Parts: sequence; structure tokens; C-alpha cells
Amino acid sequence: NKYVAEPYKVKMVEPLRILSKEEREKAIKKAGYNTFLLDSSDVYIDLLTDSGTNAMSDRQWAGLMMGDEAYAGSRNWYHLEKTVQEIMGFKHVVPTHQGRGAENLLSQILVRPGTYIPGNMYFTTTRAHQELNGGTFVDVIIDEAHISDREDVPFKGNIDLKKYESLIKKVGAENIPYICVGVTVNLAGGQPVSMKNLKEVYELSHKYGIRVMFDCTRYVENAYFIKEREEGYKDKSIAEIVKEMFSYADGATMSGKKDGIVNIGGFLAMNEEELYQKATALVVVYEGMPSYGGMSGRDMEAFSIGLKEALDDHYIKHRVEQVKYLGDKLIEGGIPIVKPIGGHAVFLDARKFLPHIPQSQYPAQALAAEIYIESGVRTMERGNVSAGRNKEGKEYFPKLELVRLTIPRRVYSYAHLDYVAEAVINTYERKNQIKGLKFTYEPPVLRFFTGKFEPI
Ligand code: F0G
Repeated sequence: NKYVAEPYKVKMVEPLRILSKEEREKAIKKAGYNTFLLDSSDVYIDLLTDSGTNAMSDRQWAGLMMGDEAYAGSRNWYHLEKTVQEIMGFKHVVPTHQGRGAENLLSQILVRPGTYIPGNMYFTTTRAHQELNGGTFVDVIIDEAHISDREDVPFKGNIDLKKYESLIKKVGAENIPYICVGVTVNLAGGQPVSMKNLKEVYELSHKYGIRVMFDCTRYVENAYFIKEREEGYKDKSIAEIVKEMFSYADGATMSGKKDGIVNIGGFLAMNEEELYQKATALVVVYEGMPSYGGMSGRDMEAFSIGLKEALDDHYIKHRVEQVKYLGDKLIEGGIPIVKPIGGHAVFLDARKFLPHIPQSQYPAQALAAEIYIESGVRTMERGNVSAGRNKEGKEYFPKLELVRLTIPRRVYSYAHLDYVAEAVINTYERKNQIKGLKFTYEPPVLRFFTGKFEPI
């Protein structure tokens, strides 16, 4: 079999509109060459993100009808709390409207000026919250993660224990409130962390009295890679692997919009009593009561059901293998992509795709705009624009200059993915005509969301 068939069938469809090339040229110009600013109705296949764009099951939709919209003590909240406790094994759960809501609470409670937060590569919103609270993010991922074609490294998301320990020795464990471990690592290309590494990070952290907080946004995808690639796990269920993963964490932030298979939702979870108390005190300021945290009762019900569905071995196999199907097609077509192929997306290497455009002219941003013009497929820049500027106002110029083709869960067919592959290959054939970009409007933080550009 060339691909894994769907473990679901279609019950409802959403018609799509296909614009002409001239209309697409106008639309992207109006959007300032930023795919975030396109109208969704101008997009044919939307691979901007897998966040909140998933198809819910009939069970989840039925759950929406069971919403208990009480201001306090909603039964859907108790369902969500119990589900998280059972799946992850954490004692306490604090609901938030999405992942960054949890990052905000955690950062406000634990991050102070003069503190350092190590992590396996940054994520945009995660680092923004750490920095807004005066902290400094330090990348302690293995070097190979920054090299796009190190196909031989099965767990490119791993923490480099030497880098981590030397940071501890340099700044002092008392100045490191926690280490943030992303499972999987989005910006490295959806790359997983091995169980062995998770265990070692936990042991090293506890030796120095440092908390381990997972960013567990895509934890089920990480578990699938452990099952496939790590010795001793092939006969374990995804649920068992997940349980073991979380035994090496003191807490976690979660965006339910990914592996929760919902459109909105998130939480902060932990074992520590004091941290829990502080989080419940803060959540009422920013999100809502500790029994809804920015979600409606029906959202929490769909989220609880989604969390359980995501642990199904057939579901997760199809999900990750579907992403690989697209990646393999692109490799066959000679397109430079990040290898190995990650769990939620295929990442194009824009430096290799457009070697004539310097990083200061945002090749990944330019490529995302061109793919849209070519095909109506919407992708996302994950390079210099996303990385932004440091405290001194200098651009980061990250090693990885990527365009992300993110696959929503249970949404697109293999025929859609064939269309996408063809679109990218056609763009590659006329790559020499593609020009760099410059900012016409640059927002001060998270500039990739609303920044505008024009061709040079
Ligand atoms: N952590 C990771 C690894 C993420 O990928 C995201 C969101 C967040 C935290 C924040 O969660 O959006 O619910 O507030 N990633 C989306 C993406 C936006 O497209 O990759 P959120």
C-alpha cells in the first residue's frame, strides 16, 4: 500500500471556491504578501496551520449539544479535568482558551527578569510570553535539529544534555524556573523527542531542582514516533506511551487546537500544589473561572472527547502517515524539504528552494506567497519573519528558513495532497523568477501575524 486508508468516513462536506490566477495575484497583493492576511474564502486548500482547523467527529458534535453552560462547576469541566488527569497523570488542571493562555499564566507565575528558560527550539508565542516577563529563552536542542536534511537523526527534537547542563552551571539552577520541552518540536519541522531523552532531561533537571514543563501541544504525534522509531515501544499502545512520557514532566501547557482535535481550547496542568493555587488565582483575571477558563461548556465537552479519540492507534497512524505521503511526493519531485518528515507538516527549505534570495529579503515569506499565486494553496512562513527581533532590535536570522505545509487532522484527501505536491513542483520550475520581499509595515511583536510586504 502506498498510503494508509482513512479510519473514518465523510458525513458532511464544506464546498471550496477556486479563484483564477489573476484573482489570486490581486488577493495576495492586497494581503501584503502575507498568507495570514488572506481571506479564507480566497483559499482553495488551507495548509496555513493544523491549529483549530481539524474536523471533529460525530461524537464531538454530539458533545456540543451536551454543553452545560453554567458559570461555575460545569459538568463538562469535570469531564475535561478527569480526562486530562487520566491520560497524562497530572494532579491539577487549569483550563485556558488556548495554548498561549496557559503560557501566559505559567510565564507570569514563574518567569522573572534575570531568569533563563531553556527549551528545545523556541515557539513564537511561548518565547514571547517568557520575554514579556523579563526572561531569556535559551535554545538547548541538539545541533542536528538546525540542519534541514539530517535524515539520519530519528529524534531531532531531543535536548542536548551537555548544552543544558552547561547553561545550569553558567547561570545557576536557581535562575532557571523550568525547562520547556516541546513534544513534538514545531519549528524544527514537527520533530519528536525520544523517551530516553525525556527521561534523561527529567533526571538531570531534578538533580538540580529544576521543573520540567512540557509544551504537549502535539504529544500524540510524538508518541507515535516513539512507537515507530524507539526500541522497546513497538508493541505498546499509544496511550501507554503517552502515560510514560508524562511521567517525566512536572506539568505541561497544551493547545487543544492540535492534538485535542478541536477548534478552540487549552490548559495548564501540573502536580505542584503551590503552582496550581497561583494559576487558579491568575486564571480568573485573564481567562475566566477555574471551571471554564475561556471555553464554553460545549467546547470542553468536544475537547474531552477529542483527547480520547486522538489516542486511537489507527487514528494517529493515518494522521502521521498522511503527512509523510505529501512529503514523499515532494521528495520524489526533487523539492528540498526538512527530513525526516515531521508529525504535523511538511517543511520546505526556502534557502535551498530560492538560493538567489538572501535571508534579509525573507525567502520563505516570498515562497509562501508564490505557492498561493500558483495554486490557491495557503502555507505559512517559518523563518526570519517568524523569528522576529531580539531585545537589541536585531533580526535573529534563524538557521532554518522554512515554509510550512501544515495538514489539518481528518480534513483533506490524498487527491488534495496530490494537488498540493503538483503546485509546489510547478512553483519550483519557475523559481528563478521569484523575488525577495521587504516590510511595508512591521509590528513590534509576533510580526509574522500582521506584517505587510512588497516585492523588491
Ligand atoms: N506551542 C506550540 C508548539 C504551538 O505550535 C502553538 C501554536 C502554541 C504553543 C500556542 O498555542 O495557538 O493555542 O495559543 N501553534 C499554531 C501553529 C499557532 O500554527 O503552529 P495556541
